[in-house]
Parts: sequence; C-alpha cells; structure tokens
Amino acid sequence: MPDLLQIGGITDTMRDRLEAAFTIHQLDNFDPDKITHVVTNGHDGVNPDLMASLSNLKVISGYGVGYDAVDANEAARRGIIVTHTPDVLNEEVATTALLLMLSCYREVLRDDAYLRSGDWQAKGNAPLTRSADNQTVGILGLGRIGQAIADKLAPWKSKIVYHSRNRKDVAYTYYDNLTTMAKDCDVLICITPGGPSTNKIVNAEVMEALGPQGTLINVSRGSVVDETAMIDALQSGKLGWAGLDVFEAEPAVPQALRDLPNTVLLPHVGSATVETRAAMGGLTVDNLLQHLKDGSVISAVPECKHL
Ligand code: NAP
Ligand code: 8YV
Repeated sequence: MPDLLQIGGITDTMRDRLEAAFTIHQLDNFDPDKITHVVTNGHDGVNPDLMASLSNLKVISGYGVGYDAVDANEAARRGIIVTHTPDVLNEEVATTALLLMLSCYREVLRDDAYLRSGDWQAKGNAPLTRSADNQTVGILGLGRIGQAIADKLAPWKSKIVYHSRNRKDVAYTYYDNLTTMAKDCDVLICITPGGPSTNKIVNAEVMEALGPQGTLINVSRGSVVDETAMIDALQSGKLGWAGLDVFEAEPAVPQALRDLPNTVLLPHVGSATVETRAAMGGLTVDNLLQHLKDGSVISAVPECKHL
C-alpha cells in the first residue's frame, strides 16, 4: 500500500477510509523517501523543510479550505498537487460570522453572566443592547464564504458593501480602498485567505475608520488583523467591539484580549460542527483516493489546477 503521512488530527471516519488504502505514518516515525501522500489541515499545513525532505511526494490533501500554511507555488513547481475543501463549509463559517456579529450587538456573554450571577434578581433588568438590524456590513473578501455571509444577512436587512482586489459581478457596492469602506461601515467582516497579500491589512487606520461604534468580525486568519493594534483600539474605545474566531498565534490568545469586555472569542471553530467536518473529511479523503485511482483529484487549489 502507498505511504501516507498524517499531520494533525483526523476523524475516525477519515482514518477508517484512509487505512483501507494507505499505510499511515505519524510525524514522529516515518521514512521521508517512502511518503507519496500527505493529509494535513489548515492550521498545521506542511512546513517548507518537511516538504523539501519528501522527495516522492505527489499529493498534499488539506482538511480545510484555507491553505496559507502550505507553499502551493513551491508544491506546483515540484509537481505536487495541493487539494483543499472549498464550498462544503461555506454555510457553517457564514453562520459563525453571524453568531459573532449578533453576540457582539446583543451582548450575549454579558447578559448571560448577568443572569447567572444573580444580578437580574439583585439589580433589575439588564442594560439595553444595540439592534443588529439595518446595519451597513462591509465584507472583506467577497468569495465563496463572503457571499454566503451576505446571503445570511438578508433577514437582518443589512446593506452589504465589499472590498477585494477585484470588483465582482454583484449588486453590492464595491470599495477599492479598505479604509474608505471601513469609514462607511457599522460592521467589518474579514473572510479573505491568510498569507503575505493580506498580512495585517486590517491595521490601526482601518480599525479607527470603523470607529467607536464599529464592530470587527474576523473569521479569516489571525494574520489578516494587526492584533496589537486591535487590542489598543478596543482598550482605548477607538474600536467598539470585536468578534474573533482566529488569532495571530493560535492557540495562544493574548491575556489583554481575553480581559476585554467588548470582545467575543471563539477557538477557531468556524467550520467545527459534526455535519460540516464530516463533509470536509469526506472531500479530504476523496481527493486522496481519487488520486490513487487515476492520478486526478477533485478539488486542487488554483496554483495546482494545471497539474
Ligand atoms: P475564496 O472563495 O477564495 O474567497 C476569498 C476572497 O478574498 C475573494 O473574494 C478574494 O477576492 C479576496 N481576497 C484575496 N486576497 C485578497 C487581498 N489581498 N485583499 C483583498 N481581498 C482579497 O475563499 P473562501 O472559500 O471564501 O475562504 C476564505 C478564507 O476563509 C480561507 O482562505 C480561510 O483562510 C478562511 N476560513 C476560515 C475558517 C474558520 O474556521 N474560521 C473556515 C474556512 C475558511 P480577490 O481575488 O478579488 O481579491
Ligand atoms: C479549519 C479553516 O479549522 O477551512 C479552513 O480554512 O480554517 C477551518 O475550516 C481547519 O482547516 C481544520 O483543520
């Protein structure tokens, strides 16, 4: 059987299917020259030294849509196909973005604590919150998931605007400048890929433009937002609220961010439901099995589609 290197965790269903077709090796014990296939995920990817050492590698199958932790250009140069799991997680990640937005607006964590602590009985009704209806929502990265977010916002009667490198064929207003868009928004939702081209593009200037009444939602990658500048802006009140699923140095999250009352923080669970992870796991394995069958894959990343 061909040899597969497993990086990071996989589900039992994935393991059962993979064990039927591959000999699975773990990172602490494998012969680099034997490995032809790798299964990994969006967090761990494949580090450059490891990839360089795998002389017979043919496919890297990623359990996730984001592949900023794999050098896909270098893989393509070596003829290695990188695959990922687009589309099957769009709705789930969009739900997570809305969950964070609504939690910030309606102060879900504060009010839950208010009830549990006994303050409701002791002090009376909780303070009022803000309505999430009729807001101008800026989507940074109107791709597959960005569009699902826009669709899910319809019942809240949001005005959708967006920024990306290219204007899309959609009815929403396009901004070619992120700071200008942030000035016009109540909420900024980040859902671009990570990597060098988006590194810290949500900087102090963008967050100040969003302003004291503004809400920043990040379900993309921690690298997209300047975390230090965000903490300063949230502490000083230059930025109102932040709902975050992703962080610069996961799973480490700065204590300053955890101490802030105007944040809602999730441990990178944007796609982490049983149903969606089953779909992602299915596609991750299908890509590997299809390659064994006929040398093709189902969902190569754009850099590797020609291979
Ligand atoms: P996609 O369909 O490729 O969409 C990405 C969007 O970002 C496109 O609209 C693209 O438009 C825009 N973009 C790319 N580079 C940009 C830049 N430098 N400046 C501004 N806009 C840029 O990807 P997707 O499937 O929606 O996934 C997006 C990302 O979400 C993933 O890569 C991953 O990092 C993240 N994600 C997170 C979770 C989670 O658990 N939190 C789960 C899934 C995905 P242009 O090309 O026109 O710029
Ligand atoms: C996952 C993600 O957390 O798809 C992505 O890009 O960030 C998430 O869906 C991750 O890849 C699962 O390992």
